[in-house]
Amino acid sequence: MLIAIVLLLVAFCGGRGEEASKEQRSGHVSVVVVGGTGDLARKYLWQGFFQLYENQVSRGNSFSFYGGGLSPAEKATPVFFEIMKAVNCSMGVSQELCAILKEQFLRLSQYRQLKTTEDYQDLARHIEEQLHQEGMTEAGRLFYLSVPAFAYADIAEKINSTCRPTGGPWLRVVLEKPFGHDYRSAQVLATQLRNSLNEEEMYRIDHYLGKQVVSKILPFRRENRKHLDPIWNRHHIQRIEIVLKETLDVKGRIAFYNEYGVIRDVLQNHLTEVMTLLTMKLPANVSNSEEVHRNKLQLLSSMLPLGKNQAVVGQYQAYQTEVQQELNKTNHASLTPTFAAVLAHVDEARYEGVPILLISGKMLDERVGYARILFKNDVFCLQNHNTVHCKPKQIVFYFGHGSLQYPAVLVSKNLFQPAVTDQGWKEVTEHNDVSVLGLQSSDYYVQTPVKQKEAYAELISHIFAGRKNNFISTENLLASWVLWTPLLSSLTSSFPRIYPGGVDNGDMLDVHLKGKEILFSSEVVIISPDQVGGNTVNGFQVMQGKFRNSDMVSAWSEELVERLAADMQEAAEAAVNEGGVFHLALSGGSTPLALFHRLALHHFSFPWRDTHLWMVDERCVPQTELESNFYTLHQHLLQHVRIPYYNIHPMPVQLNERLCVEEDGGALLYENELNKLVNGSSFHFVLLGVGYDGHTASLFPGSKPEEFGESLVVLTESPAKPHQRMSLTFSAINRARRVALLVMGKGKHELITQLSRVKDKSDKYPVIGVKPANGRLVWYIDYDALLG
Ligand SMILES: *[C@@H]1O[C@H](CO)[C@@H](O)[C@H](O)[C@H]1NC(C)=O
Ligand SMILES: *[C@@H]1O[C@H](CO)[C@@H](O)[C@H](O)[C@H]1NC(C)=O
Ligand SMILES: *[C@@H]1O[C@H](CO)[C@@H](O)[C@H](O)[C@H]1NC(C)=O
Ligand SMILES: *[C@@H]1O[C@H](CO)[C@@H](O)[C@H](O)[C@H]1NC(C)=O
Ligand SMILES: *[C@@H]1O[C@H](CO)[C@@H](O)[C@H](O)[C@H]1NC(C)=O
Repeated sequence: MLIAIVLLLVAFCGGRGEEASKEQRSGHVSVVVVGGTGDLARKYLWQGFFQLYENQVSRGNSFSFYGGGLSPAEKATPVFFEIMKAVNCSMGVSQELCAILKEQFLRLSQYRQLKTTEDYQDLARHIEEQLHQEGMTEAGRLFYLSVPAFAYADIAEKINSTCRPTGGPWLRVVLEKPFGHDYRSAQVLATQLRNSLNEEEMYRIDHYLGKQVVSKILPFRRENRKHLDPIWNRHHIQRIEIVLKETLDVKGRIAFYNEYGVIRDVLQNHLTEVMTLLTMKLPANVSNSEEVHRNKLQLLSSMLPLGKNQAVVGQYQAYQTEVQQELNKTNHASLTPTFAAVLAHVDEARYEGVPILLISGKMLDERVGYARILFKNDVFCLQNHNTVHCKPKQIVFYFGHGSLQYPAVLVSKNLFQPAVTDQGWKEVTEHNDVSVLGLQSSDYYVQTPVKQKEAYAELISHIFAGRKNNFISTENLLASWVLWTPLLSSLTSSFPRIYPGGVDNGDMLDVHLKGKEILFSSEVVIISPDQVGGNTVNGFQVMQGKFRNSDMVSAWSEELVERLAADMQEAAEAAVNEGGVFHLALSGGSTPLALFHRLALHHFSFPWRDTHLWMVDERCVPQTELESNFYTLHQHLLQHVRIPYYNIHPMPVQLNERLCVEEDGGALLYENELNKLVNGSSFHFVLLGVGYDGHTASLFPGSKPEEFGESLVVLTESPAKPHQRMSLTFSAINRARRVALLVMGKGKHELITQLSRVKDKSDKYPVIGVKPANGRLVWYIDYDALLG
């Protein structure tokens, strides 16, 4: 039966597809995808193996496909077949043939639980029995490990001890990144793997290398050597940029991502691979994997070291909240970068001084990936700047998406016309003119693959053919970690610049190259000399200026707190003089603790007897718990000062023996109390802080002030569950006579940078909503937060 179908297929599809590698022995191939019902397998792997099957079945090869996993077969088999049924035939395959191919593919597939050594032994036995029954010669066994990296060593060990074929057939084991976390862990993993597998048996996948345009880089350099040789050097290249911009966030993957960050996730592997392909010595034979690997290694070892000054990092604003939600860490501030721009240099005469930029980030304005070689253009055009020879000279390897929407290699017309010798590629002559990196697409010679191919399917066909030039060797992997590890260690305590995400990022992530260093090009512009004035009594201790058009006081933290305490006392005395009472609303959190201590220990003449103390916000926890703002306030201030207890107004978060239930009306109670006691509901003084994500009081990004209407007190939902809060609204805050916004610590520097720049309308930073209608807002920002 099997033989008959194979013959039928030969008749249908003889001669189609790629040419099989010559030295490949034909026969039976067992494909085992460990993690065979996982996400990657579902999206790409089985589709890739099906394409392999389509292409190879007519060439005398036969296959069995095993999906392996930890779940028992009864449970996983239906899921597995759902996935297998979803594969698609290649373009141009008739429906009739497609149905036959798919039916046959399903018949050759099965799910097996692969957990214990016995499971692997059973698998090996099954493979051998099948070979024996069908009287087939074995060509090889391909294991694709689509599982978390910590499982690699164990599975490799099981494969070696039970599934290694004897005699002629090959064994190939495919691994996915991450290959370690730094140099040391990569080395440990490599050593473990080498106990079970030989180097030639391992295929470390970097799916970027399967992208058609990426794998075109070396052939392109070779095909156009005549044009490129004279200009591929420091005299002509102005800059190399390798960029992968993404619009997505990492929601749902935080547990993984937070340990890695963008540098380990993208720069150390994908972008580094592209960089080596662009700058390595051109191999005499671009298909010869030893030569490719050797030249890559040589390039990697001649990179100048990367340190703190060669990188700038960022983090999209919502990331903190996502971390808190997914990791259940309420007060955890993650420094993991979701954006990085790194400046690298090759220490070779040919590239001396040529900046190589590697840039990637999440939540950027568009999805696009490219490498651009920008050449110097020494033509000066006096009049017609649009003439072709006046325009930028560049070669762009466009990996996909973005304005162009398809993968392509673009050479600006003032450089040269590239050869199109490869049959898989064609020149694009019909443009709907879009702008690509500063030039219209009609200003380029454009070539694109005749047929777009999925990276995984490409790489799977290479694995099958035993072609290793598009995979990562152990030596190259370790060399890449040697380059990246020192930078990663130097960044462990750097605060990333927080960016709002999407088009709102504006020029916030633009970078500026200064010799061998890279900087963000936009810095905080807060104080101009004419805005600085006033109190500089003891040298330069306290500075006054403007921040977001409001008054600002800045100093080292200790002096800042002294100043704020003094200003608060002054306001208290003025209020008491005027009306006999001072209404003060205080925030929770750790920032004001130093202020509370200062007030308790140094301000004995503070009119506490006439002060009413209100709360800006409260967590929905009992007041006796450490997390309660009231508890903190009590510990650090109230128990140390002589304030009448009937002047203290904690928020009623606990009523009827339950916490913050809407029907209990706690918020309304507080509002009524406030209306009754405070003239015009207008506090004399409100002290606010601002969170890393721009929240103030308990008003978080994404909450809509309109929803609160005229309410003065509301229940809100903190994004970091499970905390519900009670909070004053902007209506209440903006009635105050005076509002102090206290911001301290280096960790707030990036926030301050952004707040200095964002527009009044932005709803991403609730703190911007603080605009007292008839009162005065003063920012108290310490030098750490202001100057970083
Ligand atoms: C098969 O094609 C359909 C329709 O184009 C697509 O939605 C689906 O994702 C494809 N399946 C795979 C495994 O790529
Ligand atoms: C595989 O296992 C055998 C013993 O079963 C061992 O001798 C060998 O070193 C292991 N590793 C490799 C790479 O073959
Ligand atoms: C280039 O290398 C490949 C793979 O090793 C080999 O098959 C091919 O014959 C080589 N080409 C030349 C021109 O040497
Ligand atoms: C976080 O907490 C929720 C509920 O308290 C729980 O269901 C979830 O498993 C926790 N997640 C982690 C990563 O600990
Ligand atoms: C309440 O405030 C108004 C103006 O804000 C003021 O005219 C009035 O005297 C105040 N009343 C008391 C009792 O202080």
